Amino acid sequence: MKLKRTHRCGELRKAHVGEKVVVSGWVNNWREHAGPFFIDLRDRYGVIQLVFSPTDEALYEKARKLRAESVIAVSGSVRARADEAINSNIETGEVEIHAEDLEVFNISKTPPFEINEFNNASEDVRLKYRYLDLRRKPLRDALILRSQVAQLTRSYFSRHDFVEIETPFLTKSTPEGARDFLVPSRLHHGQFYALPQSPQTYKQILMMAGFDRYFQIVKCFRDEDLRKDRQPEFTQIDVEMSFVDETDVMSFVEGFIVELFKEVLGAEISGPFPRMTYQESMDRFGSDKPDTRFGLELTDITAGFGSTEFKVFRSVHGKKGYIGALVAQEASGYSRKQIDNLNQFVISLGAKGVAHLKFKDGEFDGGISKFMGDAEKAYMIENLGLKEEALVLVIANESAEAAKNLLGHLRNKLAEDLELIDDSVNHLHWTIDFPMLEYSEEDQRYVARHHPFTSPRDEDRDMLETEPENILARAYDLVWNGNELAGGSIRIHERELQQRVFNALNISPEEAQSKFGFLLESFEYGAPPHGGIAFGFDRMIMLLARAASIRDVIAFPKTASAVGLMEKSPSLTADEQLKELGITVIKS
Ligand code: AMO
Repeated sequence: MKLKRTHRCGELRKAHVGEKVVVSGWVNNWREHAGPFFIDLRDRYGVIQLVFSPTDEALYEKARKLRAESVIAVSGSVRARADEAINSNIETGEVEIHAEDLEVFNISKTPPFEINEFNNASEDVRLKYRYLDLRRKPLRDALILRSQVAQLTRSYFSRHDFVEIETPFLTKSTPEGARDFLVPSRLHHGQFYALPQSPQTYKQILMMAGFDRYFQIVKCFRDEDLRKDRQPEFTQIDVEMSFVDETDVMSFVEGFIVELFKEVLGAEISGPFPRMTYQESMDRFGSDKPDTRFGLELTDITAGFGSTEFKVFRSVHGKKGYIGALVAQEASGYSRKQIDNLNQFVISLGAKGVAHLKFKDGEFDGGISKFMGDAEKAYMIENLGLKEEALVLVIANESAEAAKNLLGHLRNKLAEDLELIDDSVNHLHWTIDFPMLEYSEEDQRYVARHHPFTSPRDEDRDMLETEPENILARAYDLVWNGNELAGGSIRIHERELQQRVFNALNISPEEAQSKFGFLLESFEYGAPPHGGIAFGFDRMIMLLARAASIRDVIAFPKTASAVGLMEKSPSLTADEQLKELGITVIKS
C-alpha cells in the first residue's frame, strides 16, 4: 500500500480546504464532462467528490479506466467547490479533492445490482451478494444502530449491577416449544448436543448460584417455520433477577425502554406502561400482541344467534362457539372483489371464510343479510352500535380462540389496507395473566404457553390437579405497536410445585428427570424466588430502524426456508466426516 489514508471520505468539510489528504474507498459513480473526470468515492462514513484534471494525462487516463465498486486510494488537495457546484445533498458537498496520485487496490467486476439506497434487485440476489448489499446505506445504518443498541443495553444493565455471563451453545434440549437444532458428537457416537432455544435453564441456575442479576446478549436457535419477524438463529437480550415479583421485572424493563427510546429515537415516553390481561386482549383485539394504534375492535355477537334461521350460526351458537364481528366504516364502499380478497385472506389462514353485510341508511344489504331475521338485525344494530354506513365482517367458529384469532388477523389486514395506522406514534403495553397451558393440535395435548418453569399464580395452585386449563401464569409479554418485543415470567423455585406443573403438562417424572434433572436438583440446594424476561433483539432493531423485515437488521440472515444463500448453508458433508461422527444419512 503506497497511499495510506489520512482522512475518511465522509469527514471532509470547508475547514479542510488547502490540506493535502489521502482518502480510500469504493468508486460509487463517475461523470465525464468535456473537461475533468469526476469520481464519487464512498466509504462507511460518506462520499467525497474526486476531480481528475486532463492536464495530468497519465493520471486522468488511469482514473477513466476505473469502474464502479473498484477500491482505490487517492491523494490530493481539498478545494472549495464553486458556488454553482455545491451539492447540499451530501455532507461533504462544499468541497472536492483535486487528485494528484491514484493507487488502485482492486478492480471490481460489474456488480449484479447497483449500490443505491433504493434497490429493486430480488432479495435472493441481495442475500447471495450480501457484502454488496451491506454497502448500501440503509443496511449499513441498521447494523450501526444495532451496535449502538447493544452498547446501550450493556451500559444500562451493567449500571444496575447485572453481570454479563455467557452460557453454552453445545447443550441439552431447552423447552421453548420449537424443534431443536442438533449437533452430533464425534466423541460420543449416537449422542447429540442441542443448540439452545434460549438460555432459560442456565439463567435460572445462575440465580441458584447467587448471581442475583444476570444479562446476556445471546444467540438462540429454533427450528421453526419462519416469517418476516423470525429467524432460525436470532439474538435475545436475556435477563434474570432474584427476589423479585412481576412488577419489579416490568418496571426495570420500562426503565430500559424509556432510556432506549430517548437515546435512539429521541422520543420521550414514560412508564409504567398499560397492562392488559390476555382475556381482554383476545376479546377486544383477537390477539395477545394487539396493535393498539387503531380501533376496529371485535364484538362478540354470539348471543344474538340462538334462534336464527341461519344454520351455520345457529350451530356455532349451539356448540357454545363464538360469533364475532368487526365494523369498518372506512370499508363501507368495498367492492365485491375487495371483499373477496378478505375472504381469500382468511381462507389462507385456515378459516372457512368470512361472512359480510353492508349497513346503509339503517338497513343491511348484501352478503349474509338475506339470511338474517328482524331480531338478529336489530340485535346487531344495537350491539355493534351501527349508525353510519359500514362494512360488517363476521366470523363464526366452534373454537372461540380460533375465531378471535382470525378476526385479529383480519383486523390488522384491514388497518393496513385502509391505512388506519399512525406510524408516528408508539404504543407499548404489557399483556399479563396468560393461561398457563395451551392446547397443541400437533401434539394433541396441553403444552406450556411460555415454558414449563413459569409459575402459576399463587391463588391458582390448587387447580393444578383439577382444572389446569383454567390456571393463569405469572407471565408477561411486552408489546410494541403489535409486535411481541419481549416475554418473561416469574419462575417456579420449589421442586414440588415444579413436579406438579410437569404432571399437569403430562411430562412424566422420568422425562423431567432426564431433561431437566440438573435444574430440579438445584431447587433442592437453596433456590431464591426469581424471574426474568428476554427481548427479541433483532425484532427490536427492526422496529427501531423501521425496517420491513428482520433480515434487514441481521448481517448474514437466512432466507424464509432457512438457507444461507451467500455461503450456501446447509450443505452436504463429506462421507469421511459423517463416518467420524458415526452418522449414516437416510436418502429421502
Ligand atoms: P420467548 O420464547 O418469548 O421467551 O422469546 C423471547 C423473545 O424472543 C423473540 N423471538 C424471536 N425473534 C426472532 N426469531 C425467532 N425465531 C424468535 N423467537 C422468539 C421474540 C420473543 O418475545 N426464555 C424465554 C424468556 C424468559 O422467560 O425469560 C424465551 O425465550 O421477540
